[in-house]
Amino acid sequence: MLFPSLGALLLATSVVAQDLSEFTGTWSSGSGKVITGPNFADPSEAAFKYPDVAGISYSFTESGYFELARYRFISNGSEPNCIRGVLGWLHGTWEVLSNTSIVMTPIWGDGYQQIQDPCGANSNFVENYNGTEIYSTYAFSTDAADGRRRFQLFEHNGVPLPPMFLISETPTMLPTNKLRNVSAPATVDKNKRELGSESGSGDRVNVADKAAVVLSMAALGLSSLLI
Ligand SMILES: *[C@@H]1O[C@H](CO)[C@@H](O)[C@H](O)[C@H]1NC(C)=O
Ligand SMILES: *[C@@H]1O[C@H](CO)[C@@H](O)[C@H](O)[C@H]1NC(C)=O
Ligand SMILES: *[C@@H]1O[C@H](CO)[C@@H](O)[C@H](O)[C@H]1NC(C)=O
Ligand SMILES: *[C@@H]1O[C@H](CO)[C@@H](O)[C@H](O)[C@H]1NC(C)=O
Repeated sequence: MLFPSLGALLLATSVVAQDLSEFTGTWSSGSGKVITGPNFADPSEAAFKYPDVAGISYSFTESGYFELARYRFISNGSEPNCIRGVLGWLHGTWEVLSNTSIVMTPIWGDGYQQIQDPCGANSNFVENYNGTEIYSTYAFSTDAADGRRRFQLFEHNGVPLPPMFLISETPTMLPTNKLRNVSAPATVDKNKRELGSESGSGDRVNVADKAAVVLSMAALGLSSLLI
C-alpha cells in the first residue's frame, strides 16, 4: 500500500465510530473454562459452579446488556501462602462513551462474589457486589496464529485485562432482568464449602474490611493476577 498511514487512520476512524455489533457474543480468557451463563453462576442461590481454572468472561448483547464472570487468584507478596480466590458475577447494561471508555452499570443488588481467603478469620464467604465497572478503553484484533477474534479490556488505570477470545457469537447469558431478591443477608458464610487450606493465621480482621481490601486491590490492579 502506498499510504499505510492512511489505512491506519481509516482503521482508527472505524474504531471511533464504534461498531457495537463487534462486541456481541461471549468472550473468554485463557483456556476458555470460565464462561458467563448458567454453567458459572446461580444468582438465585448466590452460588457458583467452580470452573477448573481461573479466567474471565464477558458477554454482550447489541441491545445493551452485559454479563461478566470472573475467577481470579490474587497474591500478596508479603504473604505468599495466602493466595485469595475471588469468584465474581455481575450483569446489567453497558455503553461505550465517545472517548472509547466502557461503562458497565450493574442491576443493583444482583451481583455477588465469593472470597476464599485461606488466612482470613472467615476463610470463605459470599457478599453482594454492585460495583460499576469502568474501563478506559478496549481493543479488537484477530489472532495471527489461529484467526480467532480477540478482545481486550483496559482497566480505568490503563492496565490490560487478560485477552479474551470469541467463543460464541450468540451471547451465553442468564436472563437480563433482575434475578436476585436481596432482602436476604448480604454475607453468607461458606466455610463448610471451603476450597482452600484450613490454616488460619488467627488474626481477627473484620470480614468487610478484608473484602474491601481485595476489591480495591483488584480495582487498582496492584495485585498479580494468576490467570
Ligand atoms: C499484604 O499483606 C500484608 C500483611 O498482612 C498487609 O499488610 C498488606 O496490606 C497486604 N497487601 C495488600 C496489597 O493487600
Ligand atoms: C450492594 O447491594 C446490596 C444489596 O442490595 C447492598 O446491601 C449493598 O450495600 C450494596 N453494596 C454496594 C457496594 O453498593
Ligand atoms: C472518558 O469519559 C468519561 C466520562 O467523562 C470519564 O469518566 C473517563 O475517565 C474518560 N476516559 C478516559 C480514558 O479518559
Ligand atoms: C423477597 O424475599 C422476601 C423475604 O423473604 C419475600 O417476602 C418476598 O416475597 C421476596 N420477593 C421476591 C420478589 O421474591
